[in-house]
Amino acid sequence: MLRPLQGLFRSEDYPDLLVGLGEPDDAAVWRLDDERALIATTDFFTPVVDDPYDYGAIAAANALSDVYAMGGQPFLALNIAALPPSLPVEISAEILRGGAEKAREAGVVLAGGHTVQDKEPKYGLIVLGFVHPQRILSKKGAQPGDALVLSKPLGFGTVTTALKREQADPSDVAEAVGWMKRLNRQAGELAVEFGLRGGTDVTGFSLLGHGLEMANASGVGLRFFFERIPFTRGARRYASEWIFPGGSADNKLFYSSQVRFAPGIDDASQMLLFDAQTSGGLLLAVPPQRLEGLLERAAQVGQPLWVVGEVISGAGIEVL
Ligand code: CO
Ligand code: CO
Repeated sequence: MLRPLQGLFRSEDYPDLLVGLGEPDDAAVWRLDDERALIATTDFFTPVVDDPYDYGAIAAANALSDVYAMGGQPFLALNIAALPPSLPVEISAEILRGGAEKAREAGVVLAGGHTVQDKEPKYGLIVLGFVHPQRILSKKGAQPGDALVLSKPLGFGTVTTALKREQADPSDVAEAVGWMKRLNRQAGELAVEFGLRGGTDVTGFSLLGHGLEMANASGVGLRFFFERIPFTRGARRYASEWIFPGGSADNKLFYSSQVRFAPGIDDASQMLLFDAQTSGGLLLAVPPQRLEGLLERAAQVGQPLWVVGEVISGAGIEVL
């Protein structure tokens, strides 16, 4: 789909565009001067949960995440919304309030936006942030020997799909919603504090899809240890009932040729790693000499981190 654009903009014509052309990442980055670069990103989607406030907050946390995934600090956001005229105004207002309060929590000012009418609601943000041009966290920064660290559990796709089919336990949904609303701010700040260079956030393309983007951009392989990967409560149960969003099946189709699973990892477990996430955690490549310090500091500030694998030389992903 993007192919017709490829000849239009050549990276050599835009020396200040540090990230964006040729090597797509979580967000575009434009150098302003030696100390500062501007990050620009947008993301929006249809409702993932029933509660309009939570939907707005999740969409905002998800859009902000791409700035954190570049090692940046967001400062300004705009709403982007499509709302059905038939939707009661109180509901629309709750969506926007959820997004605005999440932006404020992130220290971001919501300075306007644009709304159109559409049959199905869509909501998200355009977000701008700053990053030091020498301290960008990117998909190409992973090195063999790095530990792979994840900042949220997986399973949001299967749980929200179970919710849509009215098969979900409310406590499972509440747990997933809590994680999806959680900002990746603290995880991103820790990545900057510890000078990390390789990282991304886990969203629609799943842990394995976004992991492969990182592996391919960095010219390395990734190894995950299945037993160390965290899942939300209920995720394994819904997976065993094969309740997955359409995106998870697409991910498996698209990425599985580059993934090798150890025998004994059953189909439902494999599919959980292809599960499309909304507002998932950061996946960080951590040099071994900084791992212990990072985990200690994360525990001090109350940021959960799981060591789920390692970066290896080679290509593709293996799951043991
Ligand atoms: Co991203
Ligand atoms: Co994105």
